Amino acid sequence: MTNGGPTRDERWQIQIRDLHKSFGAQQVLRGIDLDFERGKTNIVIGGSGQGKSVLMKHLMGLLQPDSGHIYVDGEDIVGLHDVAIAKVQRKFGMVFQYAALFDSLNVVENIAFPLIERYRLPRGEILDRVRDLLRRLDLDNVPGVEEKFPAELSGGMRKRVGLARALVDRPQILLYDEPTTGLDPIATKNVDEMIRRTADDFGVTSVVISHDMASTFRIGDRIAMLYDGKIVACGTPAELLAAPDPRLREFVEPSGAVKFGVPS
Ligand SMILES: Nc1ncnc2c1ncn2[C@@H]1O[C@H](COP(=O)(O)OP(=O)(O)O)[C@@H](O)[C@H]1O
Ligand SMILES: [Mg+2]
Repeated sequence: MTNGGPTRDERWQIQIRDLHKSFGAQQVLRGIDLDFERGKTNIVIGGSGQGKSVLMKHLMGLLQPDSGHIYVDGEDIVGLHDVAIAKVQRKFGMVFQYAALFDSLNVVENIAFPLIERYRLPRGEILDRVRDLLRRLDLDNVPGVEEKFPAELSGGMRKRVGLARALVDRPQILLYDEPTTGLDPIATKNVDEMIRRTADDFGVTSVVISHDMASTFRIGDRIAMLYDGKIVACGTPAELLAAPDPRLREFVEPSGAVKFGVPS
């Protein structure tokens, strides 16, 4: 379907319709139609500067489009007032590229930050939630981890603390903006595994922005390609492998990560 309202199909947690966004004379999003499937890992690929981060910021209401609609669980979030958008934002967790932890806060304080910011929860309950996440993300086997500061953690641990912070308010949707950019292949595989495991263990819908083809085809349930402000290919990994779109092939093939079957 294209520019109509959302389907009532529960399968799609987010539906984007005819989304436009310009900065001055620069048209970044030029009519995006895209659905993200509930409980799945949805990946958006595209070259640098194509508008991937801009698109992601719209999902959480951090940017307002010039026109178009974004339905989250069937509710159009475009133009919502502050209180309503804050409620929508609580459905989302955001995992930042470099974990973006606060250097002066320890692990518990970093993870608990969104809770302290949003609610007046008893300290005991906050600690329970944080410790549950430390266990589930395999961070509890490091002695004294709760009091450690980000500088005392390995890169992989920092990523997991950042993930714990994104999960602490029990989001339904996790957004990852280029989570493997700048990582070596082993670290990339670890992050891929973390994304997959989190999707399975927490049942979240994942939206991952990526330009890493190997990761994309390893973890994606659905893949969409953003090019020149539009979605030029979208589907399962198998569907994308079979898609003839030259812009897609040009983007994916040079990476050597994926060998396209030659259609006969
Ligand atoms: N707040 C902003 N103001 C002006 N231009 C912006 C803003 N945010 C992004 N852009 C521009 O929009 C384009 C897409 O940016 P971005 O979404 O960050 O690309 P990427 O696909 O690499 O994530 C870039 O040309 C960028 O300079
Ligand atoms: Mg970006």
